[in-house]
Amino acid sequence: EAELEHHWFVGSIDQGTTSSRFLIFNGEGDPVASHQIEFENLYPKSGWHEHDPLELVRSVEDCIEEAMRKFASLGYSKSHIRSIGITNQRETTIVWDSVTGEPLYNAIVWPDTRTTTLVRELKTRQGADGLLDLCGLPLSTYPSSVKLLWLIQNVDAVRQAYDEGRLAFGTVDSWLIYRLNGGARADRPVHVTDSTNASRTMFMNLRTLQYDDKLLGFFGIDRTKIQLPRIVPSSDPEVFGKVASGSLAGVRIAGCLGDQSSALVGQCGFSPGQAKNTYGTGCFLLYNVGHEPVISKYGLLATVAYDFGRGRKPVYALEGSIAVAGAGVKFLTNNLGFVNQSSEINALAESVPDNGGVVFVTAFSGLFAPYWIDDAKGTLFGITQHTTKAHIARATLEATCFQTRAILEAMARDSGHRLESLAVDGGLSNSDLCMQTQADVCGIPVDRPAMRETTALGAAIAAGLATGVWQELEDLREVNRMGRKVFEPRMEREKADRMFRKWEQAVEMSRGWVKE
Ligand code: G3P
Repeated sequence: EAELEHHWFVGSIDQGTTSSRFLIFNGEGDPVASHQIEFENLYPKSGWHEHDPLELVRSVEDCIEEAMRKFASLGYSKSHIRSIGITNQRETTIVWDSVTGEPLYNAIVWPDTRTTTLVRELKTRQGADGLLDLCGLPLSTYPSSVKLLWLIQNVDAVRQAYDEGRLAFGTVDSWLIYRLNGGARADRPVHVTDSTNASRTMFMNLRTLQYDDKLLGFFGIDRTKIQLPRIVPSSDPEVFGKVASGSLAGVRIAGCLGDQSSALVGQCGFSPGQAKNTYGTGCFLLYNVGHEPVISKYGLLATVAYDFGRGRKPVYALEGSIAVAGAGVKFLTNNLGFVNQSSEINALAESVPDNGGVVFVTAFSGLFAPYWIDDAKGTLFGITQHTTKAHIARATLEATCFQTRAILEAMARDSGHRLESLAVDGGLSNSDLCMQTQADVCGIPVDRPAMRETTALGAAIAAGLATGVWQELEDLREVNRMGRKVFEPRMEREKADRMFRKWEQAVEMSRGWVKE
């Protein structure tokens, strides 16, 4: 029996902001086969950010096929895969026609700021003050609610579907689950979301984990006209359905977690007080606060960390969201042509001993936590004749590190104690320079695992727990413990504090660019 269990594998779809992946993990939590595909990010106007929903599905399906080919070459087959989990970029909003199953507009991606004016108007509405306590999120351009409202107000096809009761709404998890199950063609179309993803919409009550009429009412969403995904726990053998076609046809989908929740699970951050910071397109720090949500007074979000169901209580987190991390590196590469490939930025930044006085407030989507300045724009300070690309590259990496420190300070105020060590993962965590800078700026050790596919691992864990690959969280104690590298702070505190003050000054000076 034990011998057999070792041969179970769990698949994980990781649908992120710039790429999709499919990974297959063994019972020890090691990836044995994987495939990744980058897809197109569309920026049709300044501040607008879209994805083609069909391309998202295609990229996921292609990743599955390719990874399964590699899995087969190792001598395994679909029958070895017990179940799969899904993890995804959060907040990104997709609307489709429930009759045809086809999208009605491009996905509006989480950093999109087309709703800036709408948000300003919403802030003056009666009831705006009570939202944070109900759903944990402040009003900003970030959550799904304002994106959905914009779609209903501005896109004829969406408005019409809404009026005719055919409008289906979902975040990326819901959309993928729906399509993987066969979409409108399925005998019983599957339209669900898990509570971690739902906690990013502003429609879910953080305590009941169900839709709240006060929240829907505030946004003027009429529940009788729109099909909202049913909110379910993140780990379940039945509710997410099965893959309808392709190499995984018939395999159960048994786990679903927003990507930042998934990374916390993949880091095994199961105890209150544990935190992780994931450097992806953006950067997101989640701090496990246990079974009761903590509503922030200092600009953090309250969110569902994970909810494994079957009698287990949900776990909440305080979150610090940074909109730009890897996106800053992509900007230097794609827009300014500093290097040919994003991976070369690190070497460029390392070629100078410091930032040469340059501070880059990478506020491409305004500034998120803990500042929430929606009219900030990306601003470079401190340029002289001495400045080179290398200084700007360094300042770009540092921007995420400074914002992380601001988040940690807010977290200390909200929670009453300081974090002792920060677990990290995601693309930029590969940069030793960036991680050393992070340790220096914050004055705490930064702890990086050898296996950095923690986001994908989290969803695999959610699926594996639902389908008997792992019985309890204790079974995961040894997962992802090996080969961690710790970056100790080396910089004098005084110097780090000086750099940080300069950053805060730059943040203040980047305000107020949008005057409409
Ligand atoms: O909230 C947005 C987040 O879920 C996106 O994550 O890794 O694509 O930056 P990432």
